[in-house]
Amino acid sequence: MNAPTYLKRMKYCRNMKVGFLQFNPAFGKVDENLKKVKALINASTCDLLVLPELFTTGYTFKTKTEVTKFGESVPNGKTAKFLKRISTEKKMSIVGGFVERDGKKVYNSSFLFLENGRHYVYRKKHLYRYEKRLFDTAYEPYRVFLLKNGVKVGLIICFDWLFPEAIRRLALLGAQIICHPANLVMSYCQDAMITRALENRVFIITANRTGTEKRGRFENRFTGMSQIISPEGRILLRAGEDNEIVSVVTINTVAALNKFLNPLNNIFKDRRKDLY
Ligand code: ACM
Repeated sequence: MNAPTYLKRMKYCRNMKVGFLQFNPAFGKVDENLKKVKALINASTCDLLVLPELFTTGYTFKTKTEVTKFGESVPNGKTAKFLKRISTEKKMSIVGGFVERDGKKVYNSSFLFLENGRHYVYRKKHLYRYEKRLFDTAYEPYRVFLLKNGVKVGLIICFDWLFPEAIRRLALLGAQIICHPANLVMSYCQDAMITRALENRVFIITANRTGTEKRGRFENRFTGMSQIISPEGRILLRAGEDNEIVSVVTINTVAALNKFLNPLNNIFKDRRKDLY
């Protein structure tokens, strides 16, 4: 799209209420976690809500046997039924992470449920540290999904953020909003996402968890600070390190169609593909 066409389209702003849910899941207590999430969601309304990675189970699995026991087949598991019900009742799209079991394989995955009951699954591509011993490697190519209002979203999970190619690929496929369920343990991501949003001119919703999980010799402290970043790299919302909260903001999704930094620079067209 050239600059004048974009400016014409900007007149037709396509507003959406988008949000994240941040909380501290109790390890292994799936029903308790679902109850807590339901109570938090009941008090809010939005069009698209992102929940953390592995929000029903917690993160710090000790062995592959253990994580496999929590695996849910698609689309019949507890997490799927829960997300489907919430999304149809509240008429919103919802994203959230779960342990996916497919035959003998186990993936660190996220659902996207639409209001009409349709669902999509994304499998985490870049496994962090001990996850390499727990989960299987996913090979499906990146793709974008269409919400009912025509807005395109792309999914990544947590550590995928460190690989700029993932969000670049989704942005090149037309994603306007990147949904990013997370269980972040390093301190860099939240600030790095400002650059990811800016260099691709997309919205990024990071839904992180809080708290500490200690299981045997494994311990993880999660960094909270879930956030929503605009295509101009502005922090529209950022949670604290420890609060349990749903936060929502209205965005104009058309802003993510504008790849012009100024009338002379289009960040996609100006890439020197001949050099890299
Ligand atoms: C992570 O990818 N959950 C650190």
